Amino acid sequence: MTLTPARPSGTRKLLPLLPTTRHGSRSHLTCQYRCGNACDQPVPNTTDNPDFHQVAERALARRSLLKVGAGAGALTVTGLATSSPLAAAAVGGNSAGTWNFTPVAPNNRDRVSVPKGFRADVVISWGDKVEKSAPKFDVDRQTPYAARRQFGYNNDYVGVLPHPTNKRGGVLVTNHEYTDEQLMFPTGRYDSATIKRIAMASHGMSVVELVRGPKRGSWQQETVRKTTLNRRLHVGSDFKLVGPAAGDDRLRTAADDTGRAVLGTFNNCAGGLTPWGTVLSGEENFNAYFDTSGPLDSRYTESYARYGISGTGRGWNEVDERFDLAVEPHEPFRHGWIVELDPYDPESTPRKHTMLGRMKHEGANVTIADNGKVVVYMGDDERFDYIYRFVTEGTYDASGTRRARRRNMRLLTRGTLSVARFSGDGLDDERFDGSGIWILLASDTESFVDGFTVADVLIDTRLAADQVSPTKMDRPEDIEVNPVNGRVYCALTNNADRDTPPETDEANPLFESQTREELGGPLVTQPGNRNGYVLEMTPGNDNHAGRDFFWSLMLVCGDPAAPETYFAGFPKEQVSPISCPDNVAFDPEGNLWISTDGNVLGSNDGLFRVPVKGPQRGKVEQFASVPVGAEACGPFIHPDGASVFLAPQHPGETDGATFENQSSTWPNREGFPRPSVVVVYER
Ligand code: FEO
Ligand code: CA
Ligand code: CA
Repeated sequence: MTLTPARPSGTRKLLPLLPTTRHGSRSHLTCQYRCGNACDQPVPNTTDNPDFHQVAERALARRSLLKVGAGAGALTVTGLATSSPLAAAAVGGNSAGTWNFTPVAPNNRDRVSVPKGFRADVVISWGDKVEKSAPKFDVDRQTPYAARRQFGYNNDYVGVLPHPTNKRGGVLVTNHEYTDEQLMFPTGRYDSATIKRIAMASHGMSVVELVRGPKRGSWQQETVRKTTLNRRLHVGSDFKLVGPAAGDDRLRTAADDTGRAVLGTFNNCAGGLTPWGTVLSGEENFNAYFDTSGPLDSRYTESYARYGISGTGRGWNEVDERFDLAVEPHEPFRHGWIVELDPYDPESTPRKHTMLGRMKHEGANVTIADNGKVVVYMGDDERFDYIYRFVTEGTYDASGTRRARRRNMRLLTRGTLSVARFSGDGLDDERFDGSGIWILLASDTESFVDGFTVADVLIDTRLAADQVSPTKMDRPEDIEVNPVNGRVYCALTNNADRDTPPETDEANPLFESQTREELGGPLVTQPGNRNGYVLEMTPGNDNHAGRDFFWSLMLVCGDPAAPETYFAGFPKEQVSPISCPDNVAFDPEGNLWISTDGNVLGSNDGLFRVPVKGPQRGKVEQFASVPVGAEACGPFIHPDGASVFLAPQHPGETDGATFENQSSTWPNREGFPRPSVVVVYER
């Protein structure tokens, strides 16, 4: 064990001395509040900060009958007080937060590896039936019709809600970010237009009823013919634009002169559950879906450039001219939003919330501030882009009535949108930390950015934010409130372009970092932040709706042998290597779970558990690794603590791989890979 503060060689003294002793041994850093953390930041009171499962439990315990949904899909929900997954928690059993496991070693196996004593089951895969009219999957007989009814490609976000009627059931909601045509289609079997139509249909979202399996923590897909909620949202599904910018001229197209009706959602990445039982999903790299057959509209040169809309897409304009910028310059303005889906009402039209701004939304996660306002945290996943927050005008109604739910579902259309600026407090404290403020951009009625209307701020959010000097971050991905300690955790995945000292600041401190070409190979110093950070934010005065916050980099990711890495002061020789944090989740005990995307340490991506308090704070342990070429999406820790859901995405997506020359065949039922949702539980 070495406790010598480490400084990477050749860094021109720009990296601070990083503490490698336990914070707890440094009394001035010991938390004076109840968290036991190694810090001096106050911890918010979160007793009024419930998640959806808790709200459902409370509300439903007071009633025997609740109507959820409307129209043909209306469901009469009875007995949810006992059917909520929380009820299962009362039965007892170990929880993911207390599981003792031997960490998975970094590896290159083409499988989901989990610790001894655990089992990983595939719950649903690309092509499996979702809707009753779906045909059986056949890789040689794919059709757009089938793809619109089967589980889509490249599952990313995972959420599991209580089933409204089946006490052993659940409702899985996933999104389908994008497609890997080179891995999906046997060479020469399909024409180009058919491939595009199937790929378009394989994007979107899925709602899938689940049922518990025989073993505690296990889950499987409910028999499709028994389901009432199963649903696929795809390129042809109706979505509506809501909020202050809906109807703006920039949102109107030849097909929709209202500026309020959109077909489809693309490149959805992370997401979150709301306390009123809906799902938020982020439209991320929407810019990559638009080609052009002519010059770009000069009115939008600056906007297109800021969002990376270049007219180079996936060729979808060959089968649908709304993806041709020369024909339909407004279509890109109808994407890049946060989508809200009500999984309990299969007839409902999902909404795109203009009030939450337009960017490359990683996702959105909700908490309730002490004053009852709903607070949404969001990351814009681009190098040097920003972290945003939305605070509702109205307050959350926790009464659990149908009327309350309808009211809550309007909350995200009115409020204030802000962007974060981080200030460091210097490195004398040997910590990357400081304070920050939320800078107002717009409310639903007023713009706070000179020269921008409210609609301008919401539609060209990046351009508006550029005017108020927020902090340029290293790709803010998933950002989520820990329901146990009330702090906000954000994955800053990496930024190879922050490669010179003038570009660094205390919140984004690295301009070089160490990687490995292959497992067991030497560490090599590379320009830029290659392995990412995990940022921890604490709202000032415990108020998520307030103006100020404190922050620190809890993790500087990478190989523990690399001198720049930092694991909240936990002894480095006792942690698992971790690279490129992407998505975060929490178990019932408040431990942080992190899935990764883009490991640059020579091994497959994985899922990691990290305590955030007490003497184990910063002890990163690898819980799972995913197949070759995959990123570890999800994750979702069931509120009963018995199940860890993971969504290995793009298995086999490696250089040069083709359908006939696959680098992965996971989950190993055929000779080609199938992105799938997995549940991990104790054997
Ligand atoms: Fe789709 Fe930001 O990862
Ligand atoms: Ca500091
Ligand atoms: Ca992601």
